[in-house]
Amino acid sequence: PVTQTDAKPVKTMAMPDAQTVTEVTHWTDRLFSFRVTRPASLRFRSGEFVMIGLMGDPDPKTGKQKPLLRAYSIASPSWDEELEFYSIKVPDGPLTSRLQHIQPGDEIILRPKPVGTLVHDALLPGKRIWFFATGTGFAPFASLLRDPQTFEDYDEVIITHTCREVGELEYGRKLIEDIRQDELLNELIGAENLAKLRYYPTTTREESPKMGRITDLMRSGEVYRDLGVEPISPEHDRAMVCGNLAFNLEIKELLESYGLEEGANSDPKHYVVEKAFLD
Ligand code: A2P
Repeated sequence: PVTQTDAKPVKTMAMPDAQTVTEVTHWTDRLFSFRVTRPASLRFRSGEFVMIGLMGDPDPKTGKQKPLLRAYSIASPSWDEELEFYSIKVPDGPLTSRLQHIQPGDEIILRPKPVGTLVHDALLPGKRIWFFATGTGFAPFASLLRDPQTFEDYDEVIITHTCREVGELEYGRKLIEDIRQDELLNELIGAENLAKLRYYPTTTREESPKMGRITDLMRSGEVYRDLGVEPISPEHDRAMVCGNLAFNLEIKELLESYGLEEGANSDPKHYVVEKAFLD
């Protein structure tokens, strides 16, 4: 067996905005999550993203290193003392091909300027909120689902997550289980509030209890029958969407067909969309 020594990770140069990795979990050969220290001054709204990354390779001509940064949704809630991120591993992705090898004690770059549209401020009051995710698009909802405001603002909270394979659901499935069982969260959010949470996972390329794209299940009405709820209406329902580009476009069209309108921070309406990060 390979024994890890307590040797310090090599730091070639002091990085601006460096944060230290505290924990790394590999969920599948394509997915991992990690936690880093949080800058004391960083305030953010659940659902927002920040730019994170690593120092790039030295320029062959000048020898200078530039940071290689990507937008990552913060997956942890705003009350958490650390920050959590959920990432894909792309074998030839400029950032994730390297980021997937980080270990506790390593440093990453984190620009402390949170922004984004998947925030409660961008939605008008409603009765029920839907979170629609595919793949790593689950990340901003991992934050919002641990935010007491989500449960204070709505009578019902429904999260759908569509992935190709069952293993890709695991990060989300475990998070939902933790939310339901965690004593601190129960205290913070309230057991009666947590009872409002419904979880609807689906897979498209591997056998699971619920198969199919969420968009098809909405069109056929199956998701509403399964959950025993009325179809989406602009009067009662609000939605946040985060997934791959094709999915975002399709669900946007679907939500508009129900009469929902897209909101923004400065102009709150019925739904908001953000693209999940792909390296
Ligand atoms: P499918 O397997 O039918 O393509 P990806 O890993 O490519 O980002 O996809 C994540 C999930 O999103 C997959 O289950 C995929 O289904 C689904 N998906 C891709 N495009 C759409 C779309 N236009 N509408 C709904 N779901 C989609």
